[in-house]
Amino acid sequence: MHRRDLTPFIGVEYTGVTYEDLRSEELFADVVDSVHRRDLVVLRDIRLTPEQQIGLAARLGTPVPFLLSDWRHPEFAEILVSSNERRKNKPVGVPRVGNFWHQDSSYNARPAEYTVLHGVNVPAEHGHTLFASAADVHDRLPEEWKARLEGLTGRHTLTRQQRIEPRHVGLSIAEMRALVAHEYPAVEHPVVRRDAFTGRHFLYAAREYMEAVVGLDANGNEEFFDLVDSLVQDPAHVYEHHWTRDDLLIWKTATTYHRATHLPEGVGRTVHRISVAAA
Ligand SMILES: [Fe+2]
Repeated sequence: MHRRDLTPFIGVEYTGVTYEDLRSEELFADVVDSVHRRDLVVLRDIRLTPEQQIGLAARLGTPVPFLLSDWRHPEFAEILVSSNERRKNKPVGVPRVGNFWHQDSSYNARPAEYTVLHGVNVPAEHGHTLFASAADVHDRLPEEWKARLEGLTGRHTLTRQQRIEPRHVGLSIAEMRALVAHEYPAVEHPVVRRDAFTGRHFLYAAREYMEAVVGLDANGNEEFFDLVDSLVQDPAHVYEHHWTRDDLLIWKTATTYHRATHLPEGVGRTVHRISVAAA
């Protein structure tokens, strides 16, 4: 087994670890500790069945079936299949998941703590996943903005990212927006939070999952989200994960910004995702 830090700001990588090895309480505790300290863990090349992935997730906490039932694995409700592939002329899963910078499920009042993602079929050349640390982003905020954000909350919503579903056929755009706002009401979270494991402050705000920071006017919000985008996307502070087969990634949802990258037409990719609430 080999373990190393991926970057100075996020991530630990384990190589040479098998599912059998993870039966060791000591090794599993080491992995969980790495997740807590470094926000993201990559276990390279670890062959897993869906049951085994669910089993590992259940040792971290409580796997939570995804909010939208249409997106779940047909046999395992805990697994969300993110895929652009088709079998027997039917989509295997949901395409284009998370192709914008975000913090997982921030539009929930109580988002699950961890995400566990397994690379089932992952191309080498495309479909990389980008990660940034929300604590690192916070530390790079200008002092003036740290002061301005003190005590403020953000309104998080799914509205911008809501997809058109079969049941929306016939609705006007305004009606559909109203329906989504009714089904998934906006929730508020503090903009600056403190990580219980590291004690570090981190920024909890991403444009695509938010309406606004409450207490900033329209110009202030625009300026804020432009600033967040530039800090999150700074290449010197982004880890780009190039997938190899059977990689297992575990991250803390609140303190980790991430996004999927573009997949060219005809390149198939399937990953299995599980959300895990803290035990
Ligand atoms: Fe995500």
